[in-house]
Amino acid sequence: MKAIIGGTGVDTLDGYSLQPKQVITDYGKVEVFLGAGRYETLVFLPRHGSQHSLPPHMINYRANVAALRQLGVEEAIGIYAVGSISAKLEPGCIGLVSDFIDLSGGSRANTFFTGGEHQVVHVAMDEVFDQTLQQRLLHLDPSLVDAGVYACTNGPRLETKAEIRYLASLGCDIVGMTLATEVSLLREAGTKTAALAYSINWAVGIQHAVAFIDDAQIARLKDRMTHLCLDALLNSSR
Ligand code: HPA
Repeated sequence: MKAIIGGTGVDTLDGYSLQPKQVITDYGKVEVFLGAGRYETLVFLPRHGSQHSLPPHMINYRANVAALRQLGVEEAIGIYAVGSISAKLEPGCIGLVSDFIDLSGGSRANTFFTGGEHQVVHVAMDEVFDQTLQQRLLHLDPSLVDAGVYACTNGPRLETKAEIRYLASLGCDIVGMTLATEVSLLREAGTKTAALAYSINWAVGIQHAVAFIDDAQIARLKDRMTHLCLDALLNSSR
């Protein structure tokens, strides 16, 4: 099975015959959407819920990843709306995330390995993302840029100007609130993962105002990313 994990702006996959399904995991219930016909190996998981009702710090990431594991998902592409800190990924552009720094603060349930019967395991993070899956995406869309390093804040508030200067000084190129928690758990679950970031704004203080791209542009980017993910996950035996 293959999964698309959608985020802000990609809370639904319109135009595909997907059926909602509740998956019950040890960590809680998750609503996913299962494909049919030529999409029968597809799972769509909207990480904020299909009504976008869960803020980043309230998402049950463990249940989400456990649900994918229970459904037999081996490859997943996560889609992440971000703010741009460096010029690597400018607003309106799509790129592949190369690495992350987790600055979410430690209050999130971000591991399956909680000791005792759940073991003590330290998953290696030298290769965060699956190179084969990334190459496949790049082959299908050579215009994808290297989005660089993702800083994961806890949110839900946006950053201060001083925080963005600090993140820039750490070498962060983009900022968002979900990827580090989700991708850590996907690594622990052994799911091959790639991350598509799309920028919807310049982070605060980088340009004069925090201007977000408009809904029509977001809809176009969503379309492009959806097709790209479906192509990379379902149409390729590479
Ligand atoms: N900061 C944090 N998360 C975000 C931003 C931002 O500027 N834009 C989109 N997600």
